[in-house]
Amino acid sequence: MITTLEVLKEIYEKEKESYLNDYFNFLKFKSIATDPVFKKDVEQCANWLENYLKESGLQVEKWDTGRAPVIFASDLRAGEDKETLLIYCHYDVQPVDPLHEWTTPPFEPQIRDGEVFARGASDNKGQCFYTILALKALLKMHKQLPVNIKFLIEGEEESGSVGLSQILDSKKEALKADYLVIVDSGIGNMQTPAITLGARGIVALQMSLQEAKFDLHSGSLGGIAYNPNRALVKMLSQLHDDEGKVTVPGFYDAVIPLSVEEKEAISFDFDHTNHQHMFGFQPSGMEKGVSPHEAAWTRPTLEINGMWGGYTGAGFKTVIPAKAFAKISCRLVPNQEPETILKQVQDYLKQLTPPGMQLEVHIIAGHGKGFRTTPHSRIVKLMSESYSQVFGKPCKNILIGGSIPISVQLSEAAGAEMVLVGLGLPDDHIHAPNEHFGLERLEKGFLTICRAIELFK
Ligand code: BES
Ligand code: MN
Repeated sequence: MITTLEVLKEIYEKEKESYLNDYFNFLKFKSIATDPVFKKDVEQCANWLENYLKESGLQVEKWDTGRAPVIFASDLRAGEDKETLLIYCHYDVQPVDPLHEWTTPPFEPQIRDGEVFARGASDNKGQCFYTILALKALLKMHKQLPVNIKFLIEGEEESGSVGLSQILDSKKEALKADYLVIVDSGIGNMQTPAITLGARGIVALQMSLQEAKFDLHSGSLGGIAYNPNRALVKMLSQLHDDEGKVTVPGFYDAVIPLSVEEKEAISFDFDHTNHQHMFGFQPSGMEKGVSPHEAAWTRPTLEINGMWGGYTGAGFKTVIPAKAFAKISCRLVPNQEPETILKQVQDYLKQLTPPGMQLEVHIIAGHGKGFRTTPHSRIVKLMSESYSQVFGKPCKNILIGGSIPISVQLSEAAGAEMVLVGLGLPDDHIHAPNEHFGLERLEKGFLTICRAIELFK
């Protein structure tokens, strides 16, 4: 029996106050897994989740990864002759800096104009939480769900899922599923429901250049020494050509162009006016001849995420620093191997290093592959149907430029066909100060998950 949307809305309305209260409690944990200072907070958040899912009627296990715990909840009462759906979310959040730019403190959630402001409000605690609420409500309504549910909530997505990737092999049996739904994506706007057929992969590294043994007087040695900052900017400036292409030899070798079928299935619409309004700039970083969404969704990139060296404090210091640093990451598209790309970038950096300069490269743990999934799978059809019903409009297909580092490994371990869904919006300020998520979307998300699960019969 499919519960009508009206009934689901009534249930939500009735429980709304306690749902919101619980969502706020979830948001209060400082689950910044990348920073060891918050280890306790991460663990407390995992414990809270474990409890909450138990109280919601699920079987719950806490998996030790040696790092942030993984929460694994399930309801397998549908039985062996029914299909199994694995859902993935994460409870870790990005660091909050710069703290002074937050209007209200990041871990003290507040509602303004129907939006909840807090770190993780959108990415991914908001999306994770409406998924939990949907399961909780369905389990209260039905003795048995039409599909077996496995729900994996990990605590290190924002730093590359290092712990989860290490235990994945040993958890294959537990994770076995027909479908994997990753609830960590978004839509372009509230008028256009969409599901996500692919994401980019990611690799990251840090590099340093050193010449002298220690910082030098820029008068005494200026003209003799080759400033590592100068060497660094010269090297970095050679990583792209004038047409916006990455110059690392072999970088594009494995890139597969979109098939005709994919081109037809995916909506690449880009609203320049809205973009200008939201972000304050017009797109100009694309490779020549590539449209904005094609660039962000189907082409690999190399970004300099940070660079430093020498004196950056108040006033002025006449120094030639001994060392200069940069953090670099690449977004990958399907068929590009993270290991290969890392080697190509490293080799090229070596080649570009001026004589006398010592290059060190440190690879940052936690890379992941990109993927694109077929628009014709059963899970894609089912999630689209759910989104169409809840929004009362046809559901489009999109891709994202961001990454879910564990996605490909997880779908392989589970043997599951994958799709990404979610109700994030481009101006949620995820990873930035004043992150927010709309109350309307908490309810719509609840409805989409409820509906999707009921559609399984
Ligand atoms: N939820 C995001 C991915 C995303 C971004 C979906 C934008 C939709 C729109 C995810 O939590 C994320 O931010 N991933 C990181 C992974 C990285 C830190 C290893 C990313 O893509 O930067
Ligand atoms: Mn994120």
